[in-house]
Amino acid sequence: MAPTPPLAPPARGGGFQELRNAVAEIVGPTGLLTEAADIAPYETDWRGLYHGRTPFVVRPANTAEVASVVRLCAAHGVGIVPQGGNTSMVGGATPSEDASQIVLSLARMRRVRDVDAVDMTLTIEAGATWKAAQQAAEGAGALLPLSIASEGSAQVGGILATNAGGNNTVRYGNARDLVLGLEVVLADGSVIAGLRRLRKDNTGYCLRQLFVGAEGTLGIITAAVLRLVPRPVEVEVALCAVPSPEAALDLFTRFQRHDPAAVQAFEYMSGTGMDLVLAHIPGATLPLAERAEHYALVELATPRPRAGLRAAMEEVLEMALADGIVADAAIAESGARRAAIWRLREEHAEAQRLEGASVKNDVSVPVSKIPDLLRRGRAACESLIPRCRIVPFGHMGDGNIHFNIAQPVGADPAAFLARSHEIMDTVNAVVRDLGGSFSAEHGVGRLKTYLMREWRGGAELETMRRIKAALDPAGILNASAVFPVGHS
Ligand code: MLT
Ligand code: ZN
Repeated sequence: MAPTPPLAPPARGGGFQELRNAVAEIVGPTGLLTEAADIAPYETDWRGLYHGRTPFVVRPANTAEVASVVRLCAAHGVGIVPQGGNTSMVGGATPSEDASQIVLSLARMRRVRDVDAVDMTLTIEAGATWKAAQQAAEGAGALLPLSIASEGSAQVGGILATNAGGNNTVRYGNARDLVLGLEVVLADGSVIAGLRRLRKDNTGYCLRQLFVGAEGTLGIITAAVLRLVPRPVEVEVALCAVPSPEAALDLFTRFQRHDPAAVQAFEYMSGTGMDLVLAHIPGATLPLAERAEHYALVELATPRPRAGLRAAMEEVLEMALADGIVADAAIAESGARRAAIWRLREEHAEAQRLEGASVKNDVSVPVSKIPDLLRRGRAACESLIPRCRIVPFGHMGDGNIHFNIAQPVGADPAAFLARSHEIMDTVNAVVRDLGGSFSAEHGVGRLKTYLMREWRGGAELETMRRIKAALDPAGILNASAVFPVGHS
């Protein structure tokens, strides 16, 4: 085991002890975790890829406490890592290994401040889970549309800070498309009180969008006003076996042309990924007669009663079957069956984790290029690591594929993970050629900072650097995330 590094002293002030005492004065005993066993869950990401260290974890109860803690840290020159549900895929909420940053958890701030069924808005604090936010919307007869596999633990603040996407981007956009207002604590402890619920507000720069996707590097989101939509009253879900990636794309196009307003999700899964889910997830079964190399999951939904979605689903699928675009399809006959089909898709990440080491490539390309990505990406990875298993799946309807690579059966996980950058670079070379992005919805975090210079170098990264310097001149907010070392 590696030796435990000593706590690094803060740049100014009288050490962590003094800072900790001052923080305790602000948040009280329930707002401060100092015991190793209590702190441990905050020091590691859920995939166990990053093992940071922090002198203590602070859990403020309200925005004023967050602001006071940030002010104190700024005075002591101590770094802060804001943390929500700790479900980051890229180590974006894990403190650094040198124990120089405190973790600020928003988990105690989970109040629903307001739900308005006329304005169709939800005002909620950052530490509420996304599931709780969805339930609050549901209580008002509305839908908070963004949906991701980790929504039971992921928190509002983290979802906004990473501009999460998920399954419904094809219809409703990403997290940023749902944000009408934000409350943010800045690096000097001042607060932007921007919880407006306006659809139109052209008063200078749109500051809230700066913090969405900034991964906690520009400010700490403490509350948000989210846009709600009418709840669907008719929902249809089908799982389809398709003969090729091209057929999956053709099927998506057919559903879009039939009624673009009804397509709520269109997801792709590979045969390999489905096999892992069926092997590892208790109760998972395939509702089709035979295994396939490629699958598409389509969800249609509408808030209009008697809209005839079932007929629409059947019409498109029957035609696709006749044309050989679909080999077999199962339309869910009940809510439980719909959930069971969705589970096959949502458990992909967990099944991969249970299978062994994997390297995630959360990439996006124009939707039309997805078949190219799937074919070229596979060929490139198989020639880099023979016998590696390609497990691409994800949000085909918005161009985002999780081009994940699982270790070869029986290979040493550590040796495989040691080649992560090589694997990412191999996939990204194809992605780049197709005009895509190396991070579609997971963010940059700590895992992908090394890619920023190459992909966003020049004026783009320089502008980001200037914004960072303007808002956080001492660099105390989530310093290990987003920017490559040296910030240039
Ligand atoms: C998902 O959509 O399930 C996750 O974003 C993907 C992943 O685990 O790579
Ligand atoms: Zn995803």
